[in-house]
Amino acid sequence: MSRAFKIAPSILSANFAKLGEEVSNVIASGADWIHFDVMDNHYVPNLTIGPLVCEAIRPVTDAVIDVHLMVKPVDRLIPDFAKAGANVITFHPEASDHIDRTLALIHDCGCQAGLVFNPATPLQYMDYVMDKLDIVLLMSVNPGFGGQAFLPITLDKLRGVRCRLDMYKKKTGRDILLEVDGGVKVDNIADIARAGADTFVAGSAVFGAGKDTDAHRYDSVISALRAQLAAV
Ligand code: DX5
Ligand code: ZN
Repeated sequence: MSRAFKIAPSILSANFAKLGEEVSNVIASGADWIHFDVMDNHYVPNLTIGPLVCEAIRPVTDAVIDVHLMVKPVDRLIPDFAKAGANVITFHPEASDHIDRTLALIHDCGCQAGLVFNPATPLQYMDYVMDKLDIVLLMSVNPGFGGQAFLPITLDKLRGVRCRLDMYKKKTGRDILLEVDGGVKVDNIADIARAGADTFVAGSAVFGAGKDTDAHRYDSVISALRAQLAAV
């Protein structure tokens, strides 16, 4: 398989008292991106971290910071996250009044842009904005909390998105990344990759794994995820 796979640990499951260390350790252990979950206690029933925390971790790593906005309204936070060092910003289309405008705003701020689909959100939202998408993020749990079980229905939906993205690539020559988020573990990542994903968010699977104190405490779980992907 020619797709390059990326592993994006979600810091939602990291030790917040040592966040900088957690970020540098997980990248030292071989992770590709840092997934940054922003929850507002309005669009989702939980409250997490904002631009100040993004700004605080930015000097700790050169890795891509992948900001997943679970907020409503969306637009007013985008310039703040861009200034704070975000590289990728994704949002839920039903949380934005003007999807096309929000995607353009993310690009104008110098970041890559994407739409996030909840398990029950229809894919039609992407139909008229494909040219503005750098990434599509499929939720494999309902958003709001780490540590939930992967919803198997996501595999069918992933195959549907893969088909659309492949057709789009044929027409335009342009790649759009396909990320999956929620319940990704060593024992299901290969099936998720076979269904078409190339970028894998994993929170509890990664940060719940290492208990050592060294900088490579996440080596074994990240190697185990990569070994599964290598066999796809
Ligand atoms: C859920 C978040 C996820 C979450 C994934 O709303 O978007 O990124 O942290 O956590 P795990 O991998 O534990 O399901
Ligand atoms: Zn997320």
